[in-house]
Amino acid sequence: MEQFAAILLEWYALHGRDLPWRHTRDPYRIWLSEVILQQTRVAQGMDYYLRFLARFPEVGALAAASEDEVLKLWQGLGYYSRARNLHEAARQVVERFGGAFPTQYAAVRSLPGVGDYTAAAICSAACNAPHAAVDGNVYRVLARLFDIDTPIDTAEGRKAFAELAQTLLDTARPGRYNQAIMDFGALQCTPKNPRCEDCPLAGKCLARAAGTATRRPVKQGRTQIRDRWFNYLHITCGRSTLLCRREARDVWRGLYEFPMIETDGPTDFATLAALPRFRELTGNGWQLLRSVELPPHRLSHRTIRATVHRIETAQAAPAAGTIAIETSALGDYAVPRLLERYLTSLHTDREQRFAAHETAGIPVLGTDYLNK
Ligand code: ADE
Repeated sequence: MEQFAAILLEWYALHGRDLPWRHTRDPYRIWLSEVILQQTRVAQGMDYYLRFLARFPEVGALAAASEDEVLKLWQGLGYYSRARNLHEAARQVVERFGGAFPTQYAAVRSLPGVGDYTAAAICSAACNAPHAAVDGNVYRVLARLFDIDTPIDTAEGRKAFAELAQTLLDTARPGRYNQAIMDFGALQCTPKNPRCEDCPLAGKCLARAAGTATRRPVKQGRTQIRDRWFNYLHITCGRSTLLCRREARDVWRGLYEFPMIETDGPTDFATLAALPRFRELTGNGWQLLRSVELPPHRLSHRTIRATVHRIETAQAAPAAGTIAIETSALGDYAVPRLLERYLTSLHTDREQRFAAHETAGIPVLGTDYLNK
């Protein structure tokens, strides 16, 4: 389509967003913004971008930070493997490229967490390399403009869209073009209610002509979402609280949480209390103060159904695999968002209900506590 890029760039000059990472050619800053924006919208991402940049003004500072600190700064964005990749990529930039963030496509693409989209976005914005960046916005714009029904979540779809995007790229100004098409998707050609009435491409849009715009792009189908049941034991002993660091290759690796017993389905407290791990964690003298069922927490392929059992114990020595921290230092640890919300609810709503999900309010004494 001959005039596509020209129309798009004209639209961008009028409506494009003024964003801090669009005023720099520093590949480190552009990379940082892209990694954050893969995870969240511009409005929320801006805060994270500015905070990361203030703390890590250049890539060496990020490489030198501890993983705990990086995860803590990332807290709230979710999908923590992105944060671990961010950290690992910074270390590789120091080790492999002497601390100078690369701008060559192949080198950028070789960094952990950097896929075709991110590499294209960085190289085009930092040095006008002619690579079309294809993100969710671009899939939508192109699927509508050309009324393409090939599913975008298939190898065939990805290849076809990548090729089409590359042919449309304005090779004289790839950086500006990539930003323009992304903004066009985010602001004009939106997922649910595209603004076709005032769209400068409406006359050329095949999906608009066919009445299929809101059905484009086509996706083959979602991966099945599975439930997991996390039973948290929020155990305190005087002024200390027990935490565990998640080490397994699983969700939230590197984050902290209360000791947790995962079960195959909903489990009542008595069943948990009979488990050997429960006994290891609590010792003999313990008291259940309350149990709180948290709202279901959706991840990309999982729904976490978590319950927190609030327990006071007399056992001061932390059980294997746990650390006892000063309760007042809890805020220093990166925790999953569902626990962050739970902790906030304790502050704002102390010892009252968390949402409408409280299941048991009556203190239960551990049998051994009674026997002591
Ligand atoms: N989403 C991903 N990258 C972006 C960018 N550079 N500007 C705006 N939104 C984006």
